[in-house]
Amino acid sequence: MVEMNKKSVEYMNKRTGAASPIFGTVASDEGMPVERLGKSPVAPQVAAEMIREYLSTEGNAHQNLCTFVQTYMEPEAVQLMSETLEKNAIDKDEYPMTADLENRCVAMIGDLWNARKEEHPMGTSTVGSSEACMLGGLGMLFRWKELAKEAGIDVYSEQRPNLVISSGYQVCWEKFARYWDIEMRCVPMDENHLTLNLDTVMDYVDDHTIGVVAILGITYTGRYDDVAGLDALIAEYNRTAAVPVRIHVDGASGAMVAPFLEPDLKWDFRLENVWSISTSGHKYGLVYPGIGWIVWRSKEALPEDLIFWVSYLGGEEATMAINFSRSAAQIVAQYYVLMRNGRAGFTEIHQRTMDVARYLVEEIKGMGIFTMLEEATEIPILCWRLADGVEKSWTLYDLDDRLRMHGWQIPAYPLPPDMQDVTCQRIVCRADLSMALAIKFIRDMKAEIAHLDEIAQGDAGASPKKAQQKAHFDHSGR
Ligand SMILES: Cc1ncc(COP(=O)(O)O)c(C=O)c1O
Repeated sequence: MVEMNKKSVEYMNKRTGAASPIFGTVASDEGMPVERLGKSPVAPQVAAEMIREYLSTEGNAHQNLCTFVQTYMEPEAVQLMSETLEKNAIDKDEYPMTADLENRCVAMIGDLWNARKEEHPMGTSTVGSSEACMLGGLGMLFRWKELAKEAGIDVYSEQRPNLVISSGYQVCWEKFARYWDIEMRCVPMDENHLTLNLDTVMDYVDDHTIGVVAILGITYTGRYDDVAGLDALIAEYNRTAAVPVRIHVDGASGAMVAPFLEPDLKWDFRLENVWSISTSGHKYGLVYPGIGWIVWRSKEALPEDLIFWVSYLGGEEATMAINFSRSAAQIVAQYYVLMRNGRAGFTEIHQRTMDVARYLVEEIKGMGIFTMLEEATEIPILCWRLADGVEKSWTLYDLDDRLRMHGWQIPAYPLPPDMQDVTCQRIVCRADLSMALAIKFIRDMKAEIAHLDEIAQGDAGASPKKAQQKAHFDHSGR
């Protein structure tokens, strides 16, 4: 940085004859192209500084409490990433050692999910959970086609194949269904069933079901579907089914938390019908975006049609990702994080994040005006709504607005379709939300609630607008 500033100053000296920084000189008159390329090159220091300044008006990542996506990595990891940016993850022939690190990550992550070596688990890195879910869905579709044909079912009939999932799904599943013409059968949620409803889920399953998706945890609230309960229902169904049904676990956030915080919870390959699991390395896998992972429990679980072969060390290596070229820096970073932390490190980081989340839960509950929808029971997520009977002339949208004035991004949003009348706010705690910052947040939240109450009690003309739902970033993607 110091070196760069020195160079900028030298450049400015040459250009303006004055030892001035970029701002306040003619260099800052360089236009930033909007729709057309500029006519001539711009000095690198000037271009970089102007872009940096332009981006500086965005939110502070540490205060963005709505995203699951990593906003902190150690300097050593960042350095390693910048040194490996040019490596193309798909070019396994040119970068065999990088490919080896990817294979090691797949093996380690599969092991975390209790995959059994003797079943020959296979997997791949992806850009994120969306690509990984897409692959999980395709695996289920291809497998269903084969089995349905064998069972004498007309797979080309008017009845489309279907996928069963709770209505709390993330938009990637809607994309999957639309791209591959699958009927999405959504099991409704209600306030007593904030996860997949096991009382009704099997009503949605039939011979055209390619699979059931269990979510670990639901994007809106962070809650885990009861995968073991679902596995038992499916085992029972499969006893007489013409086409056996299997489970894909969308563990975008939870699959990198549960192995550390709840190692005894059975949600993974210990369950016989869990045939594939996906996660985002860039969420609780602690890597900057974008990296995701999918692992199939066995060769049988991964249809051959999904595999392509690329050359590798004079031989061939299986690839099943949808994307082709992309930087391998995130794969290297994932390996670094796994190696650096080990089991104990991951457990400590997630436990500490959980402690911060539970402190926030207690404080927010203590305010006495909210009902908690999620209290960081499984992942460090908390979610609340205004309690029944609490009459306020402001809404959570107003509170969201006020908190933004302190830099906090904690959007208010409606729950999924079957419960959209309920407005809630959610905090996703990540490792870089320190206790000190959490204490400051609570102070800001209390001050802003008092402020909204005060305005409401004062001049009616000055009362809050009861902000309606706005187009803030919707993390469900919908
Ligand atoms: C349950 C679930 N599945 C899939 C995704 C998509 O993840 P990604 O952003 O890694 O593609 C998310 C993102 O929040 C999610 O919560």
